Amino acid sequence: MPRFLSAHPDARLIPLPWQLPLVDWPTDYLVALPRGISRHVVRFLTVGAEVVAAKELLEKSALHEYRMLQDLARLGAPAVEAIGVVTDRLDADGAPLDPVLLTRHLQFSLPYRTLFSPGIRHDTVSRLLDAMVVLLARLHLIGFLWGDVSLSNILFRRDAGEFAAYLVDAETGELHGQLTDGQRAHDLDIAMTNLFGEFCDLEAGGMLDESLDPYALVSQIESRYLALWAELTGVEEFAGSDLFRIESRVRRLNSLGFDVAELDIRTAADGSTLTLQPKVVDAGHHSRRLLRLTGLDTEEHQAQRLLNDLDTYRARLGLGQTDEAVVAHKWLTDVFEPVVSAIPPDLAGKREPAQIFHEVLDYRWYASQREWREVPLTDAVQGYIADVLSVLPDEVIASDTIIHPETRHLANPFDPSQGFADDDEEAPFDPWEADAADPDVELLPAHFDIDALRRKAEGPGTMSR
Ligand SMILES: Nc1ncnc2c1ncn2[C@@H]1O[C@H](COP(=O)(O)OP(=O)(O)O)[C@@H](O)[C@H]1O
Ligand SMILES: [Mg+2]
Repeated sequence: MPRFLSAHPDARLIPLPWQLPLVDWPTDYLVALPRGISRHVVRFLTVGAEVVAAKELLEKSALHEYRMLQDLARLGAPAVEAIGVVTDRLDADGAPLDPVLLTRHLQFSLPYRTLFSPGIRHDTVSRLLDAMVVLLARLHLIGFLWGDVSLSNILFRRDAGEFAAYLVDAETGELHGQLTDGQRAHDLDIAMTNLFGEFCDLEAGGMLDESLDPYALVSQIESRYLALWAELTGVEEFAGSDLFRIESRVRRLNSLGFDVAELDIRTAADGSTLTLQPKVVDAGHHSRRLLRLTGLDTEEHQAQRLLNDLDTYRARLGLGQTDEAVVAHKWLTDVFEPVVSAIPPDLAGKREPAQIFHEVLDYRWYASQREWREVPLTDAVQGYIADVLSVLPDEVIASDTIIHPETRHLANPFDPSQGFADDDEEAPFDPWEADAADPDVELLPAHFDIDALRRKAEGPGTMSR
């Protein structure tokens, strides 16, 4: 009898065929969704109307990852949500099977391979890197040492014009009271090493625009992370008369989406200088405000966009003196909800409501520029549905056509790791995981060694696609 370890047990999981290894599960139980390259067998299961990600791995790792994901949820970090672990599995002959870790499928999430394609815009890549850097800094702020930062271990969701990144693989994670600079540098090194490999792999597969250089991309990650960390935690010293600098530091952090929960301000004995250091910063400044005002739970940049629209609405109706919560309610019923409910149900799987609203605002702006008049929101919604939404691929449950819109078919739609049916190679090549199995290959040092990486990328037998 398998055992279920779960904080919120779901009886629908019990009758699933746990006596079979995940690779052998009948497709009736599975749903084909895009996903990143993985070491373990990972499948998406349909459980009622929900989709659950199942990963088969060693008991110790499964339990550790389950606990880590629960801790991350408790600390409000952006990560997939753990459902439980199924242990004590036996096959038909009574031989033991590895446990399965279950996580809730992150809706509207996009693995990086679906986002990179020839012709991907430079600024899109730049936004993905920013989202990744923010994720890493947020995890470091709460004392989480990831140990395996890579694009395959991150999921991206659209967040207005930006992206929001989520941690998906916490197997190697460790939670500490606070990270040392050395620990953070170590995580950053791992990130750069893994990402260099992944970018080289995309390049070799023709999925990275030729103008993008893997080395330049990883260098940007480093400099952006260091800049963000300095902004979030750095000490600032200034003249005692420049008190406005306290306010401007807080504003800068707010505009980056962080709130200051505690500021450490010290004054020199003679009052001539002040030092200022944010002690506790929390991400989600705008999304918390929007949630408080409207109950809408959105990503950070979406929240920022919606709040701007709310503020504009308030100004336009001259409601500056009215309580903000009252205006927010009126905006929700008069502006937001009519847009969302205008979307035909069969198109609702393409984008989340807050993302649709953001895109409609964009659409209206362009339409107004083009037609040189203020296009009403109701017209803009209809135009957006006809011109944009109806031609977009589904993102709530995307089929393999998203990965390669041309004509390629996956060898096994339930396991994108196995590559394309028309590929000579069996699976997408991942140099980092291939090496783990090959004793002859030069092992990479634990620190970031770009020359070793370049040798590896050019080496025989690798990157042969
Ligand atoms: N809860 C989830 N929601 C969406 N995608 C998921 C989820 N869990 C796993 N995936 C997808 O499966 C891939 C592999 O999962 P991961 O935990 O990284 O396995 P491994 O430990 O074998 O690397 C990820 O890159 C991601 O695309
Ligand atoms: Mg992984």
